[in-house]
Amino acid sequence: MTELHLWLRHEVRTTERRTPVVPSDARRLVDSGVTVTVEESPQRIFPVEEYEKAGCRTAEAGSWVSAPDDAVIVGLKELPEEPAELRHRHVFFGHAYKGQPGARALLERFAAGGGALYDVEYLVDDSGRRLAAFGFWAGYLGAALAVLRHRGRLTAPLEPTTRPQLDERLRGDGDFTALVIGALGRSGRGACEAFRVAGVEPTRWDLAETRELDRPALLAHDVMVNAVLATTPIPPFLREEDLDTPGRRLRTLCDVTCDVGSPLNVLPIYDRTTDWADPVRRLREEPPLDLIAIDNLPSLLPAESSTDFSAALVPQLMEFGTGAAWARCRDRFERASAETGVAS
Ligand SMILES: NC(=O)c1ccc[n+]([C@@H]2O[C@H](COP(=O)([O-])OP(=O)(O)OC[C@H]3O[C@@H](n4cnc5c(N)ncnc54)[C@H](O)[C@@H]3O)[C@@H](O)[C@H]2O)c1
Repeated sequence: MTELHLWLRHEVRTTERRTPVVPSDARRLVDSGVTVTVEESPQRIFPVEEYEKAGCRTAEAGSWVSAPDDAVIVGLKELPEEPAELRHRHVFFGHAYKGQPGARALLERFAAGGGALYDVEYLVDDSGRRLAAFGFWAGYLGAALAVLRHRGRLTAPLEPTTRPQLDERLRGDGDFTALVIGALGRSGRGACEAFRVAGVEPTRWDLAETRELDRPALLAHDVMVNAVLATTPIPPFLREEDLDTPGRRLRTLCDVTCDVGSPLNVLPIYDRTTDWADPVRRLREEPPLDLIAIDNLPSLLPAESSTDFSAALVPQLMEFGTGAAWARCRDRFERASAETGVAS
């Protein structure tokens, strides 16, 4: 059996400071006999020198294209547009199995080069539970931004920060009521934790509490965070007409889920996400209702979110090529390629 060679690539998106493998975990990989090559990357939150000290080899940004055939290329987000033919095995979030824009083109590149996508979103245990995800920090940030906005303390543009800095701004006392929907999930637990730091004990709803949805109770909270993972279409939590309900207390809404435009959307009250430059959109003037719907929340806490993600991913990476989870991941890729009509 050939030895495992992992190649941690530079991320092309300049705002992406996260990494799927942090230096301390890279050391664990090296210590267990894995060859780890780390590309230089100006924006990565951990400098390449830390990986070097951990025993990794280094390489120029983007040089994975000429990496040995057996190297497994590890990243987070999209690949650069070239090369047109992908000959390696790649581990990253491909967003290519649900007909997303660019999905077919990506699968065609793998088919052309004979490579394969091991999409981390589909790296699941035998009961279908995701093994590595960024949800907790997405929820934490979502609730934190909602709190800051509600207290008139949110400044734009948003910039990556650290948890101690964020928590310093977040601390306060129970000056409003809050609701988290999807409270038992990763994002939901993160949201509840941020509210706790902010001095607010939120109402927690999950599947049991939304089965018979009580919209008046929802609208009676000052701040709401939606963190559900919807898998089948369900009645929306809020509709346009609900926003004009007399006596609405709801003033600040953060949609961590961000399913805007999808048939699964539980908040069809807005049509586009917000972003770091303009994090807040006013949906109603009187009384005010502000929306935050940012789809890359964990990137705002790059060190913390990378560290947690890496802790979950690295034990899996040690079993790359042998573990059942990777076999499922590979099957999912083959199935998506076949369904898209792309030969692989
Ligand atoms: N905005 C971002 O930057 C960002 C980042 C990461 C994840 N997300 C999104 O956040 C969502 C949640 O992710 P997660 O990792 O926390 O998922 P998760 O599976 O850990 O948790 C989802 C929770 O939602 C609950 N839920 C599902 N349907 C519900 C309903 N109808 N009513 C009440 N609760 C319901 C589930 O029971 C579960 O507890 C996903 O859509 C994910 O794509 C967004």
